[in-house]
Amino acid sequence: MSTLVIANWKMNGAVASVEAFAQAWAGVANPEKVSVVICPSFAHLSLVREAMPRWVQLGAQDCSERTSGAFTGDVSATMLSDLGCQWVIVGHSERRACHSETDSQVAQKAQRAQQAGLQVAVCVGEQLWQRETSEHHQVVAAQLAGSLEGVSPEGLAIAYEPIWAIGTGHAASTQQAEDMHGQIRHCLAGHYGEAAESIKVIYGGSVKPATARALFASETIDGALVGGASLEADSFAEIARAGTFGRK
Ligand code: PGA
Repeated sequence: MSTLVIANWKMNGAVASVEAFAQAWAGVANPEKVSVVICPSFAHLSLVREAMPRWVQLGAQDCSERTSGAFTGDVSATMLSDLGCQWVIVGHSERRACHSETDSQVAQKAQRAQQAGLQVAVCVGEQLWQRETSEHHQVVAAQLAGSLEGVSPEGLAIAYEPIWAIGTGHAASTQQAEDMHGQIRHCLAGHYGEAAESIKVIYGGSVKPATARALFASETIDGALVGGASLEADSFAEIARAGTFGRK
């Protein structure tokens, strides 16, 4: 199993900055046993596809739970696949919070994505108060159960992103991530049986070049979803290279 390293650029970037990033990456070697995915905004998908080296996979940050029709502003999974995307992120905590996305909507998005032939990263993660009241295991288990309804284990990844670690500079400790990844694996095995073994469970939340190598060396951490540190070409290249130190 390769290490999965996904860049989530969120609502950042412009034509000039994407071109500069791609120029810096023209000399980056494809790291062995690492799958690198870049998820820019919808607006920059085609540009990233054209400008980045072919070994870098393309992903989107969201897709519609519907297939097509009168849904102004929405983008379907089929459109993403048509543009050359191989991946889509669904259920990011910022979508759940800012757009009130529910677990069942997230599951529908993942289903549409899989029907369109995309691989899917389903995000889950607790808020700080939920961890402080020891509800974090229960919260993540419930998110998983709801968000994976009708979703196939094939081409599926789960991103554990504790909300308190996103963009704060306070990453979860390896121990905290391992503990939750263990429970996620347990839930996945209950849901999918043996087929769960192929599902990658990756960590997101203030992943930095300095911490990536230790993270990837962990037995239960199959990769990372990287926000802030993926915006800068050198720092994301360093994180991608750290993937070769993943144990698998
Ligand atoms: P961060 O974001 O790396 O900036 O914490 C991660 C994410 O939201 O996917």
